[in-house]
Amino acid sequence: MGAIKPQPRGASAPPPEVLAELYPGQSIALLQALHILTRDARLNQDSRRKLKQVNHLLQFIEPLLHEALQARGDVTLVDHGAGKSYLGFLLYDRFFAQRAQGSVWGVEARAELVERSAALAQRLGFARMHFVAATVREAMATLPATVDVVTALHACDTATDDAIDFALQRQAQAVVLVPCCQAEVAAVLRRHKALQLARTPLAELWRHPLHTRELGSQVTNVLRCLRLQASGYEVSVTELVGWEHSLKNELIIARRSGRRSRSAAQRLQRLLDELGLQELQARFAVAPI
Ligand SMILES: C[S@@+](CC[C@H](N)C(=O)[O-])C[C@H]1O[C@@H](n2cnc3c(N)ncnc32)[C@H](O)[C@@H]1O
Repeated sequence: MGAIKPQPRGASAPPPEVLAELYPGQSIALLQALHILTRDARLNQDSRRKLKQVNHLLQFIEPLLHEALQARGDVTLVDHGAGKSYLGFLLYDRFFAQRAQGSVWGVEARAELVERSAALAQRLGFARMHFVAATVREAMATLPATVDVVTALHACDTATDDAIDFALQRQAQAVVLVPCCQAEVAAVLRRHKALQLARTPLAELWRHPLHTRELGSQVTNVLRCLRLQASGYEVSVTELVGWEHSLKNELIIARRSGRRSRSAAQRLQRLLDELGLQELQARFAVAPI
């Protein structure tokens, strides 16, 4: 598939337990260039988990790319909070490298990671892979006007919400999110805890600090789903991989239908009111329907 498929001379063949983690034809040389596989084609525990997550995610993203390509003869994917761009590189190798159209953009706040990814893309001949060293918000103006698929895999805290802002702004056809740590909602729940405990038995759900954090994460994702539904997307929520592999494995896939749900907007508002989260109105903003 990719430009670097042939294995370097003398490279070891992966053992069966590593092969079991790969899809047929997956480039060993690319995985080695990304340091997911060691030089002798082995996987350590961390890279096994990462590979499992990303390979699993590719199966959901690939059909979305096919659809966009069929619909408009081109396809642009933007990956926010790209980190080392594992997702972008593996997607490029699997889907883009064998086609003449389509591009992948990785947005990452850490400039040194972007430099390394850009150098690797150049070395691999992945010419339609582009990188922006900026935050999601800063990158908005730089990125292409037409974007089909937006991804954010473990983009920290509110970077996921910025990725949603971006997707809504560009009217992306699909949004694929695996949220990471979320602190903002938990901080507001914590700040108003005494007041809410006096007001409603529901506040028992976040009396203990551990529950505040966990509930904060869950509520954040629920609000994100409602926001997307209210903005014209059909939303599904599943697991990325089994819980034994990652605690942060909620996979949210949103597909644009163009039908904005007034009921979702109302439920979002009622949830913010019920939980005392009105100050986060702007974060989960929905344009008037
Ligand atoms: C946990 S890493 C995940 C990286 C990659 N998506 C992956 O799954 O391997 C999160 C990345 O998001 C980046 N990041 C955090 N906030 C960001 C923001 N507001 N804009 C762009 N990147 C951000 C961090 O620098 C970090 O590299």
